[in-house]
Amino acid sequence: MDKFFINGGKRLEGALEISTSKNATLPILAASIMSEGEIIVNKVPNFSDVEIMLKILSSIGCLITKQNNDVIINNDSINSFELPAELTKEVRASIFLMGPLLAKFKSAKLSYPGGCNIGLRPIDLHLNGLRKLGAKIIEQHGYIYCDGKNMHGAVVNLDFPSVGATENLIMAATLIEGTTQIINAAREPEIVDLANFINSMGGKIEGAGNSVITIEGVKKLKGTEYKPIGDRIVAGTYLIAVAMNGGKVQLTNINPDYLISLIDKLKNSACNIDTKFDRIKIESIGKFKALGNIDTQPYPGFPTDLQAPIMAMQTIGEGTTVISENVFESRFKQVPELIRMGATITIKEKSAIIVGEKQLYGAEVTASDLRAGASLVLAGLVAKGYTTINDIYHIDRGYENLEVALSSLGADIKRI
Ligand code: EPZ
Repeated sequence: MDKFFINGGKRLEGALEISTSKNATLPILAASIMSEGEIIVNKVPNFSDVEIMLKILSSIGCLITKQNNDVIINNDSINSFELPAELTKEVRASIFLMGPLLAKFKSAKLSYPGGCNIGLRPIDLHLNGLRKLGAKIIEQHGYIYCDGKNMHGAVVNLDFPSVGATENLIMAATLIEGTTQIINAAREPEIVDLANFINSMGGKIEGAGNSVITIEGVKKLKGTEYKPIGDRIVAGTYLIAVAMNGGKVQLTNINPDYLISLIDKLKNSACNIDTKFDRIKIESIGKFKALGNIDTQPYPGFPTDLQAPIMAMQTIGEGTTVISENVFESRFKQVPELIRMGATITIKEKSAIIVGEKQLYGAEVTASDLRAGASLVLAGLVAKGYTTINDIYHIDRGYENLEVALSSLGADIKRI
């Protein structure tokens, strides 16, 4: 099992190109099975979650070839609508295949999806939404059996703006008769990217990025070539790394509009930040005050995926910060590990109270999920002495060669 070994206290200087977004690439790969023609997805990141998604597509008969960073998908020989349980259990994103399989093949069978252990991760919004579109869905012995023969457009109200449910419903509605409206849809940039991808294949989706999305069913979708957006959570993690360690870094292949909430907070944390349409330049000019209050919300609010990273930063802010995690019910698994490194944090229901300390100290810690793992890397970079991080496979799910990127900026981090 790989570990990270970090010697903390180095300033970060230089430039990084941000990888393509994991959470945009995964639904786009799922949607690609709806096309009659060849799909080329450019600059596909080599996160382990993406590898598993490609294996799932191959398992139903998709022909996947790779050319440099591009992935070419040919659907002519899809011959199964049942997803292999051992793969679907590994990634949450396997659930994104329900919509496309129902839209194109009118049938799907899959086991409950896996993913990070940050909460129950129910799929009721997905299933009830698809049932509203006329799908017959039976849940039995841990499997979900879907029959999409009589699907039709409808108005679907989401109780919560779920990212995955919004994506599944957009994909299901793309190829069925009639018009579908999703009310209280998620507004994340990855939703807009998925809609743009499907429209580039001939889909008719309007309103993505807003709370009401309208999808006109079409008969078929053609091939396309598409480059998904840059990963705003990876970019946000690096911005926080600079804010914590001091330094000056430029990030490219990232639209700063996706990170307005974080950028505003960092500008109040002794950072100068310049932005252009596809790049962000950050310079950290020293000790920063604690941010006071942070509430995670669906987009465009402060992203839940940056809650653990920004918590690592607040452990050395001057003052106290209360972070409320309003999206997932158990996403504070980084707290005991940060405390081992000298942080002062208490948890009260869905809030974590962080009293800033002068210094963190290196320790042996363990990653429990993707973003909690990232927060431990950030803490190790700023801690005095050596930090070992175990179970870094969690981190590899969403950060491409994190140690290589950080070392290129001057950090002393090794994969052992
Ligand atoms: C997506 O997960 C992302 N994953 C998550 O990123 C991200 O944290 C999350 O959106 C919120 O932004 C991918 O895109 C692959 P949700 P998803 O449905 O779709 C509840 C990362 O670190 N809910 O918006 O699963 C759910 O329990 C990962 O990259 C239901 O109750 O998130 C949660 O409390 C982690 N019923 C809330 O909604 C449902 O049917 C938000 O979940 C679906 C969700």
